[in-house]
Amino acid sequence: MSSTDPRSWSGEPAEFDDYAAEYEGGLDNPIKRLLGSSPDQFIAVKTRWLMRHEPKLRTGGLAMLDYGCGIGSLMRVLVNTGGRADFTGCDISTGMLRQVEKRWPVSLAPLPALAPQQGARTPFADGQFDIATVSAVLHHVPVAERPAVYAELGRVLKPGGRLYVFEHNPRNPLVRHVVARTPIDKNAILLDPKEVRHGLLDTGRYDLDTDYLMFMPPGLAILRPVDRTLAWLPLGAQYVVAARKPG
Ligand SMILES: C[S@@+](CC[C@H](N)C(=O)[O-])C[C@H]1O[C@@H](n2cnc3c(N)ncnc32)[C@H](O)[C@@H]1O
Repeated sequence: MSSTDPRSWSGEPAEFDDYAAEYEGGLDNPIKRLLGSSPDQFIAVKTRWLMRHEPKLRTGGLAMLDYGCGIGSLMRVLVNTGGRADFTGCDISTGMLRQVEKRWPVSLAPLPALAPQQGARTPFADGQFDIATVSAVLHHVPVAERPAVYAELGRVLKPGGRLYVFEHNPRNPLVRHVVARTPIDKNAILLDPKEVRHGLLDTGRYDLDTDYLMFMPPGLAILRPVDRTLAWLPLGAQYVVAARKPG
């Protein structure tokens, strides 16, 4: 799979360009550091969930888009833990996309195809992807622009394709505390799963499901089964809205 050369991209620098080179997934926050020792531990909670719900990620063959991919952590952690797919990442920040190239484990998998967004819009064809992920992005998208993001994701998904929206859970007090003290989140507006579900249903027909994640510190492997039994309880630090486009 080829990658577009980020050095040739033009356009206004995005807010997130300022954070790209040093981006460490918010681990500059002392509470987050207490709960996990590396940003990848937090991402791995989402990738483990994804691997359970999309078994083909273990064998390969799915076309997967990570929308607002940042430095590519979700795709990279998937690959580092045995995930296989035809990966594509897009983001409004070309600085972030450059970091995907720098940090990608080329010995394990080809570099994802990378493309800059123009606002919500992507350059991808209608129905190009089997699955799309949107992780910790929507709370950075101004509320008035979110419908355009939902519409774009629906456009690029194949019939029968699956969309996974991972977000911080505003009902969790620790999450609100950390977000209020994290520089990259200074303009963040958190959203609950109901808003995501309604936003999606305003733009298309989907079968929807919601799980809550990250009740326990991500670094404590022994407590992972507890997380799985609590997936119904709307208090986890993260949630995922899973949306299936009709086939
Ligand atoms: C907190 S980072 C998350 C990155 C990555 N998805 C992850 O889970 O590590 C938020 C990302 O969303 C991107 N972003 C912010 N506003 C956006 C928008 N309006 N549309 C798309 N991406 C946006 C930023 O450029 C940034 O890379």
